[in-house]
Amino acid sequence: MEVERVQAIVSSSLTKDNIPIEFIRPEDEQPAITTFHGPIPDIPVIDFSDPDQGNVIRLMADASRNWGIFQVVNHGIPIDLIQRLQLVGKEFFDLPQEEKEVYAKPHGAPSIEGYGSKLGRDVNGKKNWADHLFHRIWPPTCINYQFWPQNPPSYREVNEEYAQEVRKVVDKLFKWLSVGLGLEPDVLKQGAGGEEIEYLMKINYYPPCPRPDLTLGVASHTDLSAMTVLVPNEVPGLQVFKDGLWIDAKYIPGALIIHIGDQIEILSNGKYKAVQHRTTVDKEKTRMSWPIFLEPPAEFVVGPLAQLVDPQEPPKYKPKKFKDYSYCKLNKLPQ
Ligand code: OGA
Ligand code: NI
Repeated sequence: MEVERVQAIVSSSLTKDNIPIEFIRPEDEQPAITTFHGPIPDIPVIDFSDPDQGNVIRLMADASRNWGIFQVVNHGIPIDLIQRLQLVGKEFFDLPQEEKEVYAKPHGAPSIEGYGSKLGRDVNGKKNWADHLFHRIWPPTCINYQFWPQNPPSYREVNEEYAQEVRKVVDKLFKWLSVGLGLEPDVLKQGAGGEEIEYLMKINYYPPCPRPDLTLGVASHTDLSAMTVLVPNEVPGLQVFKDGLWIDAKYIPGALIIHIGDQIEILSNGKYKAVQHRTTVDKEKTRMSWPIFLEPPAEFVVGPLAQLVDPQEPPKYKPKKFKDYSYCKLNKLPQ
């Protein structure tokens, strides 16, 4: 079966202001109709260089309770490394189509890894205006280099360096989020798989679109990860659903965007919220983003932390193997 990449559709068949019907969202999803443009607070921004650590923890916990998303500045990852990560990713997507197809997710493969265009099934049969590449980057035992581009040649080195830097930030995030719940610093990380937590890199590639008013890059969802650490390029497009409104995330150069995912919502027994989000696309520019999904190992069981459950606060979620949780989510089955 030949798969149509969005990037290939754009470079071939497109007439000036039409897009294929399978990309046109129903009205209640169309960004032109559903995006809020009034005055509204921005997604919280947290400064890791704040010498008052108690303040950082409070702000992060508040953001995770009320928004499920925040941006981190002064996180310690060198800006030139982020720029190199973006450059090698862009160079991969700039390769001729047949070179990218070498990395295509094998048909029927159990893993999500590889180059592709659509994840899971959409209830109304609609497609996302995006292509992507998935590959794990940590720990070494779960890496399949077969899905890492050989071209550009520095792709591997840059991604390995980025993985090391992101790990430091992730350890801080888990620690401070635990303390923010009034718990010991290590509980959230341990509850999500500890040192076995898998770092799944995704590159989203959103080509320019003649009708950005009608389509979405990624439709509304929460991430099934514990947490997601995302670097965007300079083209805005991420939107979050807050108090019933779709609002734009502001682009802050060099910032990391942290999403609370389903597994932290479960571990915290609903105190921290997985953020509902989606992406829009641009008429002229290519948007790209580099989320890393922090996922428990497949067989690892995740459930509400015992410390947060008592007769007054009964568990809101069933403990479940991560692989079973993912299966239900991707196939739209009840959890
Ligand atoms: C995703 C996602 C957001 C973005 O890939 O899960 O939500 O900004 N991406 O591209
Ligand atoms: Ni997401």
